[in-house]
Amino acid sequence: MSAAKQLLLDAAKLPIVFLLFSGLEFTLGVGERACPSPCRCVGDQVDCSRLKLGKIPDNLPPWTVQLDLSHNRLQSLHGSLFTGLRLLSEIKLNNNELRSVPELGPCSTNVTLLSLANNRIPTISQEQLLAFHSLETLDLSNNNIGELKASSFPVLPLRNLFLSSNRISALESGCFQNLSGTLEVLRLSRNRLSSVPPKIFQLPNLLHLELNRNRVRRIDGLTFHGLHSLRSLKMQRNGLSRLMDGAFWGLSNMELLQLEYNNLTEVSKGWLYGLLTLQWLHLGHNAISRIRPDAWEFCPKLAELDLGSNQLVRLEESSFVGLSLLHQLHIGNNRISFIADGAFRGLAHLHTL
Ligand SMILES: *[C@@H]1O[C@H](CO)[C@@H](O)[C@H](O)[C@H]1NC(C)=O
Ligand SMILES: *[C@@H]1O[C@H](CO)[C@@H](O)[C@H](O)[C@H]1NC(C)=O
Ligand SMILES: *[C@@H]1O[C@H](CO)[C@@H](O)[C@H](O)[C@H]1NC(C)=O
Repeated sequence: MSAAKQLLLDAAKLPIVFLLFSGLEFTLGVGERACPSPCRCVGDQVDCSRLKLGKIPDNLPPWTVQLDLSHNRLQSLHGSLFTGLRLLSEIKLNNNELRSVPELGPCSTNVTLLSLANNRIPTISQEQLLAFHSLETLDLSNNNIGELKASSFPVLPLRNLFLSSNRISALESGCFQNLSGTLEVLRLSRNRLSSVPPKIFQLPNLLHLELNRNRVRRIDGLTFHGLHSLRSLKMQRNGLSRLMDGAFWGLSNMELLQLEYNNLTEVSKGWLYGLLTLQWLHLGHNAISRIRPDAWEFCPKLAELDLGSNQLVRLEESSFVGLSLLHQLHIGNNRISFIADGAFRGLAHLHTL
């Protein structure tokens, strides 16, 4: 007879003791893992989202690792409510009515993810962020931040910084300096930047930079100098009309460049200079009417080129010279009336036209 069966038989003989024993265990279990009403708990996650809360439950359990307070009506927080949450690692406060980065008291030290997206925060400062010694992801998308100053960030181990959909119109020199050792992803789309100061991004570990939907009309040479790990740069919908020589110089590991929905008029090797590892170049929905001879001299690895919805009239013999690895070429929605003999000569790997 197995031990389990024996135990069941024994228990059946002593029903009262068995019930008492299991009853005790049950109570203890609940005591350890009590979930603060009206929140829901799963594992070490405490979910207090979407409850129209104006204040935080005051009995947050000490075992909380992930705390979700998103989609409520929180206007401010008292750091004292978090005392004792020594294991707290991720806290979501997105979609509330906060007007500043909250003070979380001593537990800030161990927080790695802080989401404050969709609040009403107008500024960020070193003092507010200083206590977050372990912060890796900071989401401040959809707030009211107007500028980034040199004093905005203390030294933090941040890898992901999301600042899209704010009102940022100025980047002060040195504003990212304190994040330079760790930052990998920086999102600044849907802001009000009308220029990008040259060499503002001294971020040697940055992999992805997003600047879609700003108001940058012109990119000067060396603007992105200092980003030698960058893999992708997105600058759609800016009204870009001028890319100066060496605009992307220094991006020596870039793979993807997205420039759709701008006002570019020509492709030249001047602005493509230095993009030696570029594989995907998206230039759809611009006003490009001219591809200069030797334009592709510095982009030998290009695999996909989108020139759709532009104003190309002629494809010359030189138009695609040097693109021997190109797989996909999109040139639909242009006004092409002349294609030179041999315009596609040398495109040995082309699959899709
Ligand atoms: C941070 O976490 C460590 C270990 O996970 C713990 O020992 C320490 O007490 C925590 N610090 C705070 C301030 O909660
Ligand atoms: C960087 O952080 C330190 C403290 O963490 C601070 O004193 C300094 O002003 C910050 N800004 C710059 C640009 O160094
Ligand atoms: C593009 O440039 C043309 C002429 O230079 C201008 O009229 C037009 O408004 C510009 N479009 C955008 C989206 O900036």
